[in-house]
Amino acid sequence: MADAQIATQVPHVIRREDYRAPDWWVPEIALDFDLDPAATRVRAALSVTRNGDHARPLVLDGDGLTPLSVKVDGVEAQGWSLNGGNLVVPLGGGAHVVETEVEIAPERNTQLEGLYASGGILCTQCEAEGFRRITFFPDRPDVLSRYKVRMTADKARFPVLLANGDPIAQGEGEGGRHWAEWHDPFPKPCYLFALVAGDLVANTGSFRTMSGRDVQLGIWVRQPDLAKTDHALAALKLSMAWDEKVYGREYDLDVFNIVAVDDFNFGAMENKGLNVFNSRYILADPDTATDYDYDAIATVVAHEYFHNWSGNRITCRDWFQLSLKEGFTVFRDQSFSADQGSAAVKRIEDVRGLRASQFPEDAGPLAHPVRPDEYIEISNFYTATIYNKGAEVIRMMHTILGPTKFREATDLYFERFDGTAATCEDFVACMEEAGGVDLEQFRRWYTQAGTPRVSADLAMDNGKARLTLRQSVPATPGQSVKEPMVLPLKLKLFGAETGRAMGDEQLVLLKEDTSELVFENLTEQPVLSINRGFSAPVVVETNRTAADLAFLSAHDDDPFARYEAMQQLMLDTLVASVASGGTDHGAVIEAVRNTLTDPALDRAFIAEAVVLPSDSFIGDQMAVVDPDAIFRAREALRRDLGTALGDQWRAAYEGSIANRFEYSPAAKGARRIRSVALGYIAASGAQDAPQLAFDQFTGADNMTDRQGALSTLANGQSPLREQALSAFYDRYRSNGLVLDKWFQTQALSSRDDTGEVVRALAAHPAFTLANPNRARSLIGAFSVNQRAFHHASGEGYRFVADQLIALDKLNPQTAAKLLPPLGRWKRFDARRGAAMRAELERIVATPGLSKDSFEQASKSLD
Ligand code: PHE
Ligand code: ZN
Repeated sequence: MADAQIATQVPHVIRREDYRAPDWWVPEIALDFDLDPAATRVRAALSVTRNGDHARPLVLDGDGLTPLSVKVDGVEAQGWSLNGGNLVVPLGGGAHVVETEVEIAPERNTQLEGLYASGGILCTQCEAEGFRRITFFPDRPDVLSRYKVRMTADKARFPVLLANGDPIAQGEGEGGRHWAEWHDPFPKPCYLFALVAGDLVANTGSFRTMSGRDVQLGIWVRQPDLAKTDHALAALKLSMAWDEKVYGREYDLDVFNIVAVDDFNFGAMENKGLNVFNSRYILADPDTATDYDYDAIATVVAHEYFHNWSGNRITCRDWFQLSLKEGFTVFRDQSFSADQGSAAVKRIEDVRGLRASQFPEDAGPLAHPVRPDEYIEISNFYTATIYNKGAEVIRMMHTILGPTKFREATDLYFERFDGTAATCEDFVACMEEAGGVDLEQFRRWYTQAGTPRVSADLAMDNGKARLTLRQSVPATPGQSVKEPMVLPLKLKLFGAETGRAMGDEQLVLLKEDTSELVFENLTEQPVLSINRGFSAPVVVETNRTAADLAFLSAHDDDPFARYEAMQQLMLDTLVASVASGGTDHGAVIEAVRNTLTDPALDRAFIAEAVVLPSDSFIGDQMAVVDPDAIFRAREALRRDLGTALGDQWRAAYEGSIANRFEYSPAAKGARRIRSVALGYIAASGAQDAPQLAFDQFTGADNMTDRQGALSTLANGQSPLREQALSAFYDRYRSNGLVLDKWFQTQALSSRDDTGEVVRALAAHPAFTLANPNRARSLIGAFSVNQRAFHHASGEGYRFVADQLIALDKLNPQTAAKLLPPLGRWKRFDARRGAAMRAELERIVATPGLSKDSFEQASKSLD
């Protein structure tokens, strides 16, 4: 009996190998919404056709729906039943029209999946499995249908009614209501369905496509936000032009709309012709958005737009193929952003992001392949592995094929699979066919989890240099034995004396466990530059000395490799001082001095190169993470750099003051170096640093400078800190997105009392778990603040677990997304590890826990 009870509690595991084509197709669907926040009626008419020769009933997914009526071919149906929320309709024959009617309450939908209300706007979110919360339907991405949508709503409250495709008709109804009809000519899976009803205004524009069609563009927001939409609209036009130029992809409908809402579980959603965005990825003006925000807006607008081809025209056969659309689309948005400014700085930012989120995931209990084999809740697989490692996998194929063949391969892919639901295998097969390469072994990137490690040892012997490369892939959950991968490593040698390149860059495909390369006729001692441009997403260990790294940081002709050499030098220094308490900072100081004063380098690059590796990245290099020792070592190095290079930081700071805000790569670089320099001036302990920061805070004409100064003050002890925080709060109390920054800045503070401050902030009247951005700005930020979260008292763990248990009841998806930091217990000492486990166990034992949080927490306990 006890066993049976446990068995019913353990959620069902979905396996890739169990994929079966659908029993029924739904070529057409007509939806009729009678919209009301408290009670919305949804009538659906599905034309269904039997797929193949079988006698199975029609099973329509449903989640929390009660059928008010079920008809088959216009007649009240007999014999239907509900099975775990799904509607089962026995049907004879091959084709029918099945009609259902349900009632839902968008204003009570706190999960933000399905039809929900956000700030008076009604909107939908259907990926991955939200459509089943709106109507009964085969909610799987390989069922493609043509949609006709009719919406009726109160005209005063919801003057604007939008859906996918093109607007067909609209009119007035009774009792102050009105209606609109939209038809989408492109068959699509239900996860791409969307509707929006609200009191919205649009920033409109138009785009002429390469074949000469004019597309009407609209960015829809509430009236007060209209002035903040120009940047997003400009980014959209740039994206449309870029996809034509770089991939030959043209937009296909007459309208393209984007709607911004404040409550959203992810960044944005690529619904066909009607993207719905988290407002943080649309709204920007200099007073409220940082350069980081501006860049993120352009990237996300591009990402969602690019999905029109990589995701919508070609979708995924099943959710195990998620990286087919996400990895490829991230690669596309990364390339787009690289083309808008400094490609080198963009690559540095992307690699930093990969190391901050994907490498730890790949090294922890939630590691999974780019194409997973099983899941309990698909929402948990919108991960850095699927997105960012997936993008690296596409990038490696781009590297192996070269740009021309890669383009031929994507042309083939778009041509061959347009209008279908495809697989990762389909994509790789196109790469192979058009690229004329064998990717058999390369496919392991889709099946093996874990970050490969490469060791590269260069040894001189008799005028010859021998480079020994070895690879290994660490064991990950469920995968104890690994096969060697294909690692595309770009490398080059430089002469240690002359600084000259010794030959051209080579692309080495490392396929074996071990391989050896010999370089002959060397006239001087070589220094190895390897994994240039981060050509493979791996960890590289070399026998390079501090002097080699310092040399490369000054002479390498690949900017990424230059950055990387500096990072490695910093990392080696920091890891050594954590281990031994040593403070030999001379080599780092000299290397930073060289970079900082090199007139040939642009400021954005310098700013990236001189920032120390984060606490958590330092921790990732250690067998057992000691958060306090890491913090002390990093602060000591920051202080020494601040002091030793005091004049240079001042010069960099003063040399980058602008008269007026401008959003351009050069102006962004100036602001970035300025805030980095300010941080070092403060780290040096200079008396005037708080005042300098405070003056920047009050005098700034843009949010980048204002928030940069606020962060510096928030890390310090000056009384100006409180003044700045409260001035910031008062100024922006009615702007949710900026208030998020206020919470986040405090949660990321390096002060000793951050844990207490954050616990107090959770009781602040402006804090709420109901808004995902707000929850992330406090809980999410705090749990990546390594030292504060891992406070030896265990209070940080308890606090986060309390919050996640509360959040799970409202919004399981967002709660589960915030859980992974608690799962990294194996990386810490026994005491911390036990405290983390205790919180995971408490979460798993919570009555009524969602399967989202259950999957994350229970896997983290293994
Ligand atoms: N498909 C969206 C994107 O990557 C992400 C998303 C997933 C949004 C699930 C909402 C829900 O662009
Ligand atoms: Zn995406």
